[in-house]
Amino acid sequence: MSQTSIPGYTYGTPQVAPSPVTDAEFALLKQTVLLGEDDLRSLRMAGDVLGEQIEAILDVWYGFVGAHPHLVHYFSGADGRPDPQYLGRVRLRFGQWIRDTCAAQYDRAWLDYQHEIGLRHTAAKKNRTDAVNSAAPQIHLRYLIAFIVPITATIKPFLANKGHSAADVEAMHAAWFKAVTLQVTLWSEPYVAASVF
Ligand code: HEM
Repeated sequence: MSQTSIPGYTYGTPQVAPSPVTDAEFALLKQTVLLGEDDLRSLRMAGDVLGEQIEAILDVWYGFVGAHPHLVHYFSGADGRPDPQYLGRVRLRFGQWIRDTCAAQYDRAWLDYQHEIGLRHTAAKKNRTDAVNSAAPQIHLRYLIAFIVPITATIKPFLANKGHSAADVEAMHAAWFKAVTLQVTLWSEPYVAASVF
C-alpha cells in the first residue's frame, strides 16, 4: 500500500470491509501456490523492474481487452459501448495494483483489500466506485480466472527489459504467477457460498 490520491483506491482505509478469510486459511493458500520467502524477494525485484514500465504494461493489457469484444463489454456504459471515463479510472487503480502486487505484505489490510477487489468484480460492487451506469452488472468468474494467463504471459518481456539474468527473470516471473493466482483465488471468494470457498 502506498499513499495515493487515486479516485476510488481505498486500500488501508476504514471504508474497506474485513475479509472473511482467516489467517490459518490464508497460510494454507500461500502454501498451496508454493509462495515462499524467495518469491517475496523476487516480487520486490519485480517491483523495481516494473515501476517505470507501468504505462507500457497497461497499454498492452488494455490493448488485449480492447481487442476482445467479450471482454471490453465489461467496461461498457449504459449504451453498451466502451466507456472511456470508466476505462481511465480503473486504469489508474490497475497501475497501483501492479505496485501493490510487488510490494504486498500479505497482512490484514492487504487481505481486506483483496476482498474489496473481489467484490468490485461482482454484482455487489461493480460500477459503484466510479458511479458508472454500465450494461455489465458483474464480471463473470470464468474470465477472472482465465485472465491469469494473459496477465502472466505478457509481463515476462517487461521483467526482462532491465538487463537481469535469465535466472532472475524466471524467478520474478514465477513469483508473479503465484502472486496473481493467489489474488484471483481470494477474489473468487465473494462469488461463491462460504461453504464452497
Ligand atoms: C477492476 C485486476 C480480471 C474487468 C480491477 C482492478 C484491478 C483489476 C486491480 C481495480 C481494483 C480497485 O478498484 O482497486 C484484475 C486482474 C484480473 C482481472 C489481475 C485477472 C487476473 C478482469 C476481467 C475483466 C475485468 C477478466 C473483464 C474484462 C474489470 C472492471 C473493473 C476491474 C470492469 C472495474 C470494476 C468496478 O466497477 O469497480 N481489476 N482484473 N477484470 N476489472 Fe479486473
